[in-house]
This record gives sequence, C-alpha cells and structure tokens, in this order.
Amino acid sequence: MEILHSINDFNEAKQVIPGGVNSPVRAFGSVGGTPRFIARGKGAYIYDEDDNAYIDFVQSWGPLIFGHADEFVESALTLALKDGLSFGAPTEKETTLVKQIISLANSVEKMRLVSSGTEATMSALRLARAFTNKDDIIKFEGCYHGHSDSLLVSAGSGCATFGTPSSPGVPSDISKHTLVARYNDIDSVKACFEQSKNVACVIIEPLAGNMGFVPADREFLYALRKLCDEHNALFIIDEVMSGFRAGLNGALGIYNIEADLVTYGKVIGGGLPLAAFGGRAEIMDMLSPVGGVYQAGTLSGNPIAVSAGIATLSLIKSKPHLYDELESLAKTLTQGLQNAAQEYEIPLQVDYRGSMFGFFFNAGVVKNFDDAKKSDVAMYAKFHQKMLEKGVYFACSQFETGFICSAMNGAIIEEVIQKARESFKEIHFEG
Ligand SMILES: Cc1ncc(COP(=O)(O)O)c(C=O)c1O
Repeated sequence: MEILHSINDFNEAKQVIPGGVNSPVRAFGSVGGTPRFIARGKGAYIYDEDDNAYIDFVQSWGPLIFGHADEFVESALTLALKDGLSFGAPTEKETTLVKQIISLANSVEKMRLVSSGTEATMSALRLARAFTNKDDIIKFEGCYHGHSDSLLVSAGSGCATFGTPSSPGVPSDISKHTLVARYNDIDSVKACFEQSKNVACVIIEPLAGNMGFVPADREFLYALRKLCDEHNALFIIDEVMSGFRAGLNGALGIYNIEADLVTYGKVIGGGLPLAAFGGRAEIMDMLSPVGGVYQAGTLSGNPIAVSAGIATLSLIKSKPHLYDELESLAKTLTQGLQNAAQEYEIPLQVDYRGSMFGFFFNAGVVKNFDDAKKSDVAMYAKFHQKMLEKGVYFACSQFETGFICSAMNGAIIEEVIQKARESFKEIHFEG
C-alpha cells in the first residue's frame, strides 16, 4: 500500500501543528506508523490522499451513524447553507432540535446547545456545583468527559483518592476537588462520599467508551443513583458518546435510569460541532439569563450544525429497526473477531451495545480501567497495522470504542472478519 501523500502531509503538518494533529489520538502514537490523511469519505469507507480505501470503524469517533456524506444529511445542509452561516440570534431550528432530543431522553426537561462535548460536561459540572452549593465531584478512572480542568484528572496513588492532574497546566487547586473512583465498584464510590461531605455530583459514562468499551453493570448504576440521592449530589450521565449510538434512548433507555443532568454530543450534530446538556427544569433554570450561572457561546446552536442534527435525528426516528440492525452487525463482527482470534490462541474479550463495540487483547473480563490496562497493547498495535494495510480502519488505540454505521452490511462485516483471521494468522506465525 502506497501512503506517500500521507507521509508527506504528516511531515508538513508537524512543522506548523503540534504533533501534526489537532487532537492527540489522531497521531497514531500508541499504534505506530503514519496517520492516514483523509481526502474524503462515502458511506462505510474513507479514502486517504493516496486514494487507498478503508472500511471505517471510527466514523469520526462516533458522530456518523449513517456513514460518510449521507445524502439526506447533505441535502439538509445544502439548504441551510443558503440561508446564512450564523446569526448569534435565536432560530426556530434550535427549539426543533432540542424538542427532538427531549422527546427521546427520559430525564431531560430543558436543554442548552453548545459546540463540543467538553463544553457540555464542563457546563453541567458548573451547574451541579451551583445547584448543590458544593465543590467536589466524583468521576471514574478511565472515563473521559472532555478536557476541562476539573475532568482532566486521574486517580492518585489508589482509587477513591483526591485526583492528581493528568496534564501539566491543570492546577492542583482544581484537581483536588475531583475524587476518582473505580468503575463498576460501588465501594470505591462510598469511600469517596465518606472522604468528602462536599460532593456536588457524580459524573459517569454509562457505557464507557474511552478505556475501550466497558459497559456499566446495571446494579452499579442503580446503586450510584441511590448514593447520589442519599448525599444530595446530582447524578450526571455523560451520553456524549452513547447518546443515539447505543440505542434510540441512549444508555438512559437501555438501563432505564434517570439522571439529574445529561450531556450529549457526537451523533446529535451529525458530524458538525454540536453538543448539549440538559436536565430537570429547576436545575437548568439556574442558567443565565434566568439564573446566575454563566454559560455562553458565539457559535452555540449554530444553524448549520443544528440542521445536520435535525436531519440526523429525523432519519434515526424514521428507521424503527435501525439500532437492532446495527447491533446485529456489531454482534456478528465481535463474535467473528473473537472466533478468529481463538483459532490462533489469541485471547480476545469483546462486547457491544447498539452500534458501539469493543475488543480487548486480554485474557480476563474487563470491568474497569485496571482490567483494561492489563490488555496487550503491543498486540493491538500489530493487529491495527495489519488491518490498516488490508484496508480496515480501526481506532488507533486499544483504549477506544468502535462504531458501526448504517452504510455497513453483512458482506462488509464478513470481509473484515476474514481479514482479521488473516492478520491473526500472520501474527501467530511471526511469533
Ligand atoms: C463520553 C465523552 N464525553 C465528552 C467528550 C468530549 O467531547 P468533545 O471531544 O466533543 O469535546 C467525549 C469525547 O470523546 C466523550 O467520549
């Protein structure tokens, strides 16, 4: 496979963009090799600058549930573009989109639109702190909620400790307000609540997608809900990735659980920068201009992004079997990968919900970040490179989630399984 253009593009980009990329994971740091510079995408495929085609299981890290350049979304955008790009004044479309989301989210009465998942979770935290008049938050090791200071925190020397900044530049005066607990371990959360009487909220990815794919246990989420109520803390469910990906009603629907605040992103913008946070009216009405909690954005509710969101959600609603069909492909893919790996004595843990899936090169079941970290990342890197050479684009890290889009079908999935089998065979005989 010729990738000369990508090599040249990467070298040139590195001269003017730190690491050559505008978001770190794109640099292929944990799998090695040259990141592909993408020229275009159509349906299930992306094409690099050398015109190599890849079956794309990244789908822009989640947003593109209908695949690349979907014609319905594209025509909504073409229409919207003619009316102007941005007004900084309210539009009817914003209410339409918010109503669409609220009608499908069982915990949300009011919602505000922002431009990124980072903004959505950051704003939800500020609101939770204002509503409870408390400062500390509890998050989980391995969960990612964007890169705001309070959330860019990892566990200290053990879990259930006050966190330490996971990036230079995050003041320890801020990270000391973040307690870090272990995913799927309710005792670690209880320990956090014992340690601090000042907890404003617990924030969680209900289907964790940023330590690889690790679903929360149902009992764990219910116990969290109860603990939050007992301690007058808000429960924030981060559906930026799982919303409209795992199912029509997201993880809230799958687990039949209520949050005080919910964050959305990715799919609701159909590939454009759009995200949202919402919840009970009494909490949301604390936002300026009704209340005193400040939050704003020049491009919040941008009409082009909102039009892509409305088109995407309308298309989703028009397809009653969409999530069953996507989940069936995810199931076939993950089982096929697991069987193929087994043929060559490579242990592989797999899981899926709706159109989200993941696989770990790991002999044990993965329930939390400690388990995930036991995975064979060198094996993942080899597998990733071999699949890439065969035209299959998986996430460039073991600790990410894969996404099925509706432009995929059984034949594509079978082709991928066959290529995975060949890759496992090569890895097996290379030793
Ligand atoms: C669960 C979750 N929350 C928040 C974010 C941050 O979203 P963004 O990258 O749009 O800022 C992400 C990004 O991947 C995410 O997966």
